[in-house]
Amino acid sequence: MTTPQPLLDTPADLAGYAWPDIVAPGPEVLVATRQLVRVIGTDPLTQQLVLKGIDLDIPRGQFVSIVGASGSGKSTLLYLLGGLDRQTHGEVYFNGQSTRTMDDGQLTSLRNQAIGFVFQFHFLLAEFSALENVCLPMWKLGRMTKRAARKHGEELLGMMGLGDKTHRQITQLSGGEQQRVALARALANDPDILLADEPTGNLDKHNSQNVAHIFEEIAAQGNRTILMVTHDPHMAERAQRVITLDDGLIISDQIHAR
Ligand SMILES: Nc1ncnc2c1ncn2[C@@H]1O[C@H](COP(=O)(O)OP(=O)(O)OP(=O)(O)O)[C@@H](O)[C@H]1O
Ligand SMILES: [Mg+2]
Repeated sequence: MTTPQPLLDTPADLAGYAWPDIVAPGPEVLVATRQLVRVIGTDPLTQQLVLKGIDLDIPRGQFVSIVGASGSGKSTLLYLLGGLDRQTHGEVYFNGQSTRTMDDGQLTSLRNQAIGFVFQFHFLLAEFSALENVCLPMWKLGRMTKRAARKHGEELLGMMGLGDKTHRQITQLSGGEQQRVALARALANDPDILLADEPTGNLDKHNSQNVAHIFEEIAAQGNRTILMVTHDPHMAERAQRVITLDDGLIISDQIHAR
């Protein structure tokens, strides 16, 4: 993007800042941000400008990784893109629609239907089986029968190499296996976009490679947009595009030839 980077440094600089007119994203773009600013904290003495006006277009089907130092704003950006947080200024677009005017119910519904999340810590329900965890989002959305949901859940777990462990309780699975269950759960409702925040951050090398490989397979199917925050350079390189954040701004945005 050629948009000049804004010259914001502290939250105080926002007052009276002369923003240019916003140009909405084109139809090929699945998620986008314009002038995205997030101030965290309410106390003027300690509040922090975490995102300083981010302009970003993610076209449908692209596999993107986001890298950058700890504290650069990666998770904050991901949560805003996924409708888990509200911006201080600017726009987030999903399928061309601004999410700023959506109420909490509309955002939740967008998340359930169109967005799959994978976090560093999987947030699976320990008292349920792998299959039940994968089925929960489908049951919640209510688009298919319980039987069809089970079948789809089994297929997804099969794709993750967990076909023989669908009835295991979460606590009886290894960390790598749990993360693959979380990935299956994120894909359950066939989301337009998969948002992953350090999905291998908590795994050893072998399990990381396993999960990374599954991401590549999902990306290779071509229809799924993936945005993955990672600290692992090998993992980042697997994406088609690598975006680097530094101190709340995009400092590099590179497309890799395949
Ligand atoms: N709830 C919060 N309260 C206070 N500060 C916060 C909060 N969430 C984020 N921050 C601050 O915002 C900045 C960006 O945080 P963010 O979590 O987006 O960074 P990150 O790039 O994901 O870092 P990491 O690689 O360590 O996960 C950090 O300086 C952090 O301290
Ligand atoms: Mg983070």
